[in-house]
Amino acid sequence: MLRFGPAALGDIEAILDLLTHYDMPRAAFEPYYRKDSSYRPEHSWIARDNAEILAHVRIYPRRMRLDGGVVRMAGIGNVVTARHARGRGLVRALLERVVEHVDTDDYALSLLWTHVPGVYATHGWRPLPQESLIVQVDAATHPGEEAVEPGTEHDVDAALALQEIADAHRTGTLLRGRDEWDTQRWRLDEGDLDLRVVRQTTDSLRGYVRTRIRGEDVQVLELGAMPGDVPLARALLGASSRPARRLHVTLPPSLRAAVLDHEIVEQLPSQLMVRVCSPELLVHAIGGALQERVGASAETVSLWGASGPFTLTVDASGARLDSVSRTTPLDGARSCSLLFYGAAAPMGPNLEDRPDAARLRRLFPPQDTVFWPVDRF
Ligand SMILES: CC(C)(COP(=O)(O)OP(=O)(O)OC[C@H]1O[C@@H](n2cnc3c(N)ncnc32)[C@H](O)[C@@H]1OP(=O)(O)O)[C@@H](O)C(=O)NCCC(=O)NCCS
Repeated sequence: MLRFGPAALGDIEAILDLLTHYDMPRAAFEPYYRKDSSYRPEHSWIARDNAEILAHVRIYPRRMRLDGGVVRMAGIGNVVTARHARGRGLVRALLERVVEHVDTDDYALSLLWTHVPGVYATHGWRPLPQESLIVQVDAATHPGEEAVEPGTEHDVDAALALQEIADAHRTGTLLRGRDEWDTQRWRLDEGDLDLRVVRQTTDSLRGYVRTRIRGEDVQVLELGAMPGDVPLARALLGASSRPARRLHVTLPPSLRAAVLDHEIVEQLPSQLMVRVCSPELLVHAIGGALQERVGASAETVSLWGASGPFTLTVDASGARLDSVSRTTPLDGARSCSLLFYGAAAPMGPNLEDRPDAARLRRLFPPQDTVFWPVDRF
């Protein structure tokens, strides 16, 4: 008999066996389960046929910055069905349960990366743009690397302290502590993890960069630099490049100029998808920022969440969900890119056909959004 629900401690070995059906070795997944201090067996949702586990979805509970607020976000990953059980609707049924759970468990949003968007679109996830570049650093135009030096164990706490300040207003970044930093090392192949720093004092940093070797290339996992400090970001990227290796880079808009146009070799397609699980929690988290933007006036706009349209009214008394809508709601994909990037090119939605474009622009200005690859689950 088929049963769907959260896993128990005794299921972990079977889950690790099932994950090899990704055509990847068990060892690639073990750190995610054995070394991740935040993992609980109940984060694994499984489809079980009698004793056999046939499908698996993992929830990664995270706290994410969004437009000046912080939301609970359900990361989704390690989605797999046993080879012999594919195409029978197991993941569809499992995702239905997962969605029911996240929608009632205080998650405002859910985020995932995928190469099969159709699997998730049915359940309300919508594609989100993300700029991911492959870059060949031009050494001739690059500043010297004098200030950038190898980081040590001693620098990790200072890097975390800098990240908290530099990312404080960056949408898409995660709140994380030392535990998560250490877990990330295991997940991302500790041996290859590389930290470079620019010192401010003996105990504090002005900048840092974390990289790892991926195949023939170097992947920039995260860059610690204050918004707008382009020269520093460029020095850190220069110090990360290796002869004959390309860099994979994702940057927030305020640091984007650290990559020059002629250095871009390729733009990777976005694999990000987002689901608005709870408009109420979303509005609760970003209501303060919205209210500041309208001042003494009032604005009403309609967006689209996973369970349908919702209308948002913002006035001097705050931001709240409303039952009266004046315009056709913005569709799901555009609502998601509006929430994450604001109403501005190149990543925000095209609003040319919208009578409420001015209101949307006023409520959702551009944001310094980035999804650091180091946080990917
Ligand atoms: C992708 C995978 C998880 C699907 O699991 P499954 O149990 O066979 O999927 P289901 O039969 O429940 O189908 C669910 C939906 O996904 C769609 N789907 C399934 N496999 C798909 C594929 N390879 N590409 C695109 N869509 C696919 C189905 O058409 C179905 O759509 P619907 O809900 O609109 O009807 C499974 O093929 C797998 O384990 N693949 C290898 C690991 C992997 O790639 N995981 C996804 C990582 S993001």
